[in-house]
Amino acid sequence: MRTLIRNAHCVLPDGTQKTDVLIEDNTILDVAASKATQADDIVDASGFHLLPGVIDDQVHFRDPGLTHKEDLHTGSLACAKGGVTTFLEMPNTKPATITRAALADKLELAASKCVVNYGFYIGATPDNIAELNKTDRTPGIKIFIGSSTGNLLVDEQEALERIFAETTLPICAHCEDEATVRANAERLHGGSEYADHSKIRDHKAAVIATQRAVDLARRHNHRFHVLHVSTADELPIIADHGDILTAEACPHHLLFNVEDYKRLGSLVQMNPSIKSPVDNAALWRGLNDGQIQVIATDHAPHTLEEKNQPYPQSPSGLPAVENSLALMLNAVNESRCTLEQVVGWMCDAPARVWDIVNKGRIAEGYDADLVLVNLRKRHTIRNKDQVTKCGWTPWDGETFTGLPVRTWVMGKTVFADGKIDAKHRGTEARFDHALGGYWVTPEPL
Ligand code: DOR
Repeated sequence: MRTLIRNAHCVLPDGTQKTDVLIEDNTILDVAASKATQADDIVDASGFHLLPGVIDDQVHFRDPGLTHKEDLHTGSLACAKGGVTTFLEMPNTKPATITRAALADKLELAASKCVVNYGFYIGATPDNIAELNKTDRTPGIKIFIGSSTGNLLVDEQEALERIFAETTLPICAHCEDEATVRANAERLHGGSEYADHSKIRDHKAAVIATQRAVDLARRHNHRFHVLHVSTADELPIIADHGDILTAEACPHHLLFNVEDYKRLGSLVQMNPSIKSPVDNAALWRGLNDGQIQVIATDHAPHTLEEKNQPYPQSPSGLPAVENSLALMLNAVNESRCTLEQVVGWMCDAPARVWDIVNKGRIAEGYDADLVLVNLRKRHTIRNKDQVTKCGWTPWDGETFTGLPVRTWVMGKTVFADGKIDAKHRGTEARFDHALGGYWVTPEPL
């Protein structure tokens, strides 16, 4: 089966150009197809931009065990609609993904349920090093250096030293210092309003834990990815370790700050907490300066009923996977960044950070994971239109410019004309850790 996408402005590794892209089965065959090219399906994409499919390297899809919030099928539907063609999911499910067997079970479940491509981290515990060394069907190891949803936590120094010393897979971590969070909570008697969340999970908690994790990675010379950087002061900590270290920002930490608790309450309660407008600006600077390489959502759905509980019973996390690309296209329209940067942060960089084979770029021989976007489309995000099982979004009622309109996963259209092909099944992403990570993978041409 051959599909020809004609006349789109294509974001290629060496820049954006109007060209015709030919797909054969699940592979990109030609990025400069001649006008005479024949195909089974010809898509006239005049006026649209064609991007590599987004790779979201941090989502929580709650399957198995917490599927009243989300499951692998509904989470993957949200991906298809949002232009996300591959997701990497976190291990804090029930049971947690902390053994090779649990990882294999999740991969099997995903094969039967996921519309888009998938990969799963393996979670570290104080005593599962043997399991962490038994598999390479994973992007890497996730450590909760601070606790969040679920009970995965490794905060004792000795256990952390062993994980960094005795494992070889790349590591990423949730960095919030447990002792600082506990002391703040005690001082505030647990907290009583949603805004207390940013006082309990404060600036200091993020900075201490990130410093600690970066020190570990440096001493053990271990590849390390700092998940969801939320403060200005983490940026100098992550600078100057370019040989082993990458970092990530989430749309909510770029776009929300403590002022938003008044308007949105627990809908913007997440871990790490939202911080100040100064931190928002610093994260944008970090992306623009190249200190932060990746944008991911940390999509973490909870039901509205759960979220509406008073603080601190209200759980942390918000859904974002179906809106993240649209939010970033809006940022392009606001001249905060370029479309090429968005492709770098959301497609190319995550593929390089996690050694994903043949994804993240529109290039010959790469997988035909693609998203067509209408950069000028005004649209209003509404709870009622969300396909995430939790059925809400903190951006309800807000109007943005720029929207994904069609998504291909391995050469098949899974989203077009507002409809998702729920029957399509994605494939397991392949990780080749011999590629060596972001800093050694060749940069775009
Ligand atoms: O707010 C959050 N919620 N942050 C995390 O890191 C985990 C997530 C969840 O799983 O609910």
